[in-house]
Amino acid sequence: MALLDEIKAKAATLKKTIVLCEGEDKRVVEAAAQITREGIAKIVLIGNEEEAKRVAPGVDLTGITLIDPLTSEKTAEYAKILYEARKAKGMTEEQAAQQAKDRTMFGALMLKAGDVDGYVSGACHSTANTLRPGLQVVKTAPGIKTVSSCFIMIAPVPNKYNPDGVAVFADCAINIEPDAQQLADIAVSSAKTAKAIAGIEPRVAMLSFSTKGSGNDDKFFKSVPKMQEATALAKEMAPDLALDGEFQFDAAVAPEVGELKAPGSAVAGHANVFVFPNINAGNIGYKIAQRFGGYMAIGPVCQGFAKPLNDLSRGCNVDDIVATVAVTALQAE
Ligand SMILES: CC(C)(COP(=O)(O)OP(=O)(O)OC[C@H]1O[C@@H](n2cnc3c(N)ncnc32)[C@H](O)[C@@H]1OP(=O)(O)O)[C@@H](O)C(=O)NCCC(=O)NCCS
Repeated sequence: MALLDEIKAKAATLKKTIVLCEGEDKRVVEAAAQITREGIAKIVLIGNEEEAKRVAPGVDLTGITLIDPLTSEKTAEYAKILYEARKAKGMTEEQAAQQAKDRTMFGALMLKAGDVDGYVSGACHSTANTLRPGLQVVKTAPGIKTVSSCFIMIAPVPNKYNPDGVAVFADCAINIEPDAQQLADIAVSSAKTAKAIAGIEPRVAMLSFSTKGSGNDDKFFKSVPKMQEATALAKEMAPDLALDGEFQFDAAVAPEVGELKAPGSAVAGHANVFVFPNINAGNIGYKIAQRFGGYMAIGPVCQGFAKPLNDLSRGCNVDDIVATVAVTALQAE
């Protein structure tokens, strides 16, 4: 909890402008008001005053900038940006003019144009519909080809295996069966998120059921050589990063196991950023930590975009939206 308060307090000092795309959703309007009241970020809410007052009666909209793509003078300018970004993919000017009026696309175009510092949506849209505009127009950060996600896992109390009291798990929500290059991108992006949001010095473990070749699955998915290749690629991409693998989870976090199974590794036994081999492992893993271990999970935090863009769960509440906006503001730093 303390980390979340720290994230919000730091966001407040940055004074970033974040667009919330879903002015038709009561929770989003309430969160916009709370964020503005608490000074966590400046909010642009996509929608209009009449609608906001209807869905969230009594909410004070003072200080929130409302923009409706159907009436905004910016829509034509954004349609041009969209056309330029997508014409090679066959988009016509008419299609761009039409699509720029879509609220999530309009938000992504605001971000692309530099009119806001970050984008948060997804309270009432699917992950694919929330991220697609970003994938299409904002695209990935220099040196990274894969947008991915991670959870910041906060321990109920720091323990022997997680002395920082915080860890980063990736990718638990976007890439289903990442290849070695995608895993390397996930590792490098997760290290960046660990520093920027979790405030920890990253030590990245590439996870497997095998430690340094102790197991193999040549007859099945060949996930061990994939993780070994991903480790080598990530080391090339970020030679100064403390990163190693492939490790079983105990070799990654327990010093006595790490020393035994991966002697001489700077990461074994001391990892705090964990890259899972696929979405099954990652998603199941973070939920085990949550339910059995009492960890609090912040996220999924999207990473690897050229500019910060985050997806909410459709089951989110006002506090989740406020937290996601604060995280997005830190990513914009
Ligand atoms: C990320 C995701 C949402 C993208 O879905 P999508 O819109 O159907 O993606 P598409 O395959 O149509 O790709 C759209 C564009 O984004 C790009 N893209 C897709 N995934 C990408 C990624 N992870 N990183 C970078 N670019 C990506 C594609 O290359 C394509 O670009 P182009 O149109 O310029 O050629 C999809 O991977 C997904 O649904 N993941 C699982 C999400 C999920 O169910 N999570 C569970 C929640 S816990």
